Amino acid sequence: MAAQILDGKEVAAAVKAEVEAAVAHLDYQPGLATVLVGDDPASHTYVRGKRRDAGEVGIRSHHHELAADTRQGDLESLIDDLNDDDQVDGVLVQLPLPSGLDSESIVARIDPAKDVDGLHPYNLGLLVLDRPGLRPCTPGGIMRILDHYQITTRGSRAVVVGRSFLVGRPLALMLASRGADATVSVAHSRTTDLAAVTAEADILVAAVGSPSLISAQHVREGAVVIDVGINRTDDGLVGDVDFESVSQVASAITPVPGGVGPMTRAMLLANTLAAARARRGS
Ligand code: GUN
Repeated sequence: MAAQILDGKEVAAAVKAEVEAAVAHLDYQPGLATVLVGDDPASHTYVRGKRRDAGEVGIRSHHHELAADTRQGDLESLIDDLNDDDQVDGVLVQLPLPSGLDSESIVARIDPAKDVDGLHPYNLGLLVLDRPGLRPCTPGGIMRILDHYQITTRGSRAVVVGRSFLVGRPLALMLASRGADATVSVAHSRTTDLAAVTAEADILVAAVGSPSLISAQHVREGAVVIDVGINRTDDGLVGDVDFESVSQVASAITPVPGGVGPMTRAMLLANTLAAARARRGS
């Protein structure tokens, strides 16, 4: 039987509507600063989308575009200014940064209270400690999709393929956290016999950036499959999952596009609202 489609656009619309309603009741306008360095076309597209989303829910966008040859010190000064700017509740530096810039130290320079990407070491530390804090947007969006479709994580076996700090690592922690209570394995490029590992999964998440890596042979009958991949190929945009074959085996699956992608954007808005409330005490 063909799998149920987990519609990220629909869940993202619900999140956006919640944020919009909450923002309408505030006596200030939350602000989101986006920082885009260089001319990577995909990054420009992503940031344009994030700014448009912000406007749609009543969040003010403060946009900064810098040349690819921007110096580390100049970018750091901009971050310092945004940290000090009372109108700015969230700071997002689009990644990856051009070579020559040290993204780790840039992310670490963002005020953790304004780290709406949830990627600052402080916020990642809170995640490790299973304490409340700003969570990375893509893993947060995946948890939200599972919640929306009432997919049980408690007691289930989850396999996350990919160990990036943006998705795989934080998602593994979130799935294993108290309340989610999944039993989690993390597979990666050095995993031997990947199919044997992924075939154990009740919930299988592919987040490696390898076009159509996961095929039906990797997936247990009835598994829930979450595809985080956004790979631009000659055949257009494809995920890390071979949708055609896997959707015949899985019980539910996220499409690409229209699955996890819209959720990343929606969770940024939710994080910006949360950061604004925490910072401004309302
Ligand atoms: N590049 C790809 N995904 C992300 C993300 O979630 N946040 C930022 N800042 N950059 C990204």
